[in-house]
Amino acid sequence: MNIPKRHLLAWAIALAVAPWAHAQSDNTVKIGLILPMTGQQASTGRQIEAAVKLWQAQNGTKAGGKTVEVIIKDDAAVPDTTRRLAQELVVNDKVAVLAGFGITPAAMATAPIATQSKTPMIVMAAATSAITEASPFIVRTSFTLPQATVPIAEWAAKNGIKKAVSLVADYGPGFDAEKYFDSQFRLNGGQMLDKLRTPLRGPDFAPVLQKVRDLSPDALFVFLPSGQGAQFMKQFGERGLDKAGIRLIATGDVTDDDQLNDMGDVALGVVNSHHYSAAHPSAVNKKFVDAFQAANKFRPNFMAVGGYDGMRVIYNALNATKGQGGEALLNAMKGQLFESPRGQVLIDAQTRDIVQDVYIRKVERVNGQLWNVEFDVQKAVKDPGKLK
Ligand code: DHB
Repeated sequence: MNIPKRHLLAWAIALAVAPWAHAQSDNTVKIGLILPMTGQQASTGRQIEAAVKLWQAQNGTKAGGKTVEVIIKDDAAVPDTTRRLAQELVVNDKVAVLAGFGITPAAMATAPIATQSKTPMIVMAAATSAITEASPFIVRTSFTLPQATVPIAEWAAKNGIKKAVSLVADYGPGFDAEKYFDSQFRLNGGQMLDKLRTPLRGPDFAPVLQKVRDLSPDALFVFLPSGQGAQFMKQFGERGLDKAGIRLIATGDVTDDDQLNDMGDVALGVVNSHHYSAAHPSAVNKKFVDAFQAANKFRPNFMAVGGYDGMRVIYNALNATKGQGGEALLNAMKGQLFESPRGQVLIDAQTRDIVQDVYIRKVERVNGQLWNVEFDVQKAVKDPGKLK
């Protein structure tokens, strides 16, 4: 982004005084929620907005003795827009918390603003490992791609898959998925035949699927961001890869609960790994899914849970600081441990990243609907990207 010098100076001054805003005496605490409400990632925005509204409907709008006001802004998943909106929210609206961030580039573009203004920044969706290292003010309630990928790579190698090809979206989380699938699969004795990528925007899966068909691996491992799974699955079926005996394995982003039920028979039997399934069999999750569906007429996906838990982390922290913002609020977010609809989670106090169970699931038809049915679990998985 090219910003004229005088504007930069104005921003620098505005950001320097912004921390005072956290201590404002009025009785409102503002959360600036930046989401892709339009464009290719709009389902992420729709899911998180619905989850944040559900959280406030269930828990009220008061925390730490203050009224919590959520200001929603649409960045259409364009990082320059995310950064501009974040600046405006900090400087003009004096938000105590920045939250949302549908894709990795949007989170990365905003990290310097969180650092400079000492504003806690809750990443509810984006999932490249390195995001939490971009600012000491970032806390993540979504997941990381290394965390979701290592368990499926292990499962594949231990379940008769000897030769694999990977296919990932050509940006941060895709690079993480590709790298961690490759290393874990080979560590467990597997062989990689090829590593393919498709662009984040407007991908055409036909040429890569033809390539996979020609390579004829035992399995194709796929990571694509939320919203692309249904189109991919359709083409996988149309090109007859399932009939050719090529197994599809994936991270749960591909068998996304937002789209899964409309994917049809081609999705049946797809084994994948992720931190959240709407079918997770716990009382806490059943209550969450029932309330979410009653309010929205659609099923919550992993993005919704990232948003819902993000609100919980913010409310818990506000209660602990009695509404104070800045570093005190950030510190109160570290080390939180609670039962989420996904299971037990911890905000690691050192890395500010989420530690959570990762499930191996299989797509099955239950009572006429498609679900990711969990059949195995790795407990309390820390982001492998931080264990360098
Ligand atoms: C990211 C976006 C997604 O929609 C997803 O499912 C995983 C990661 C990202 O941009 O970080």
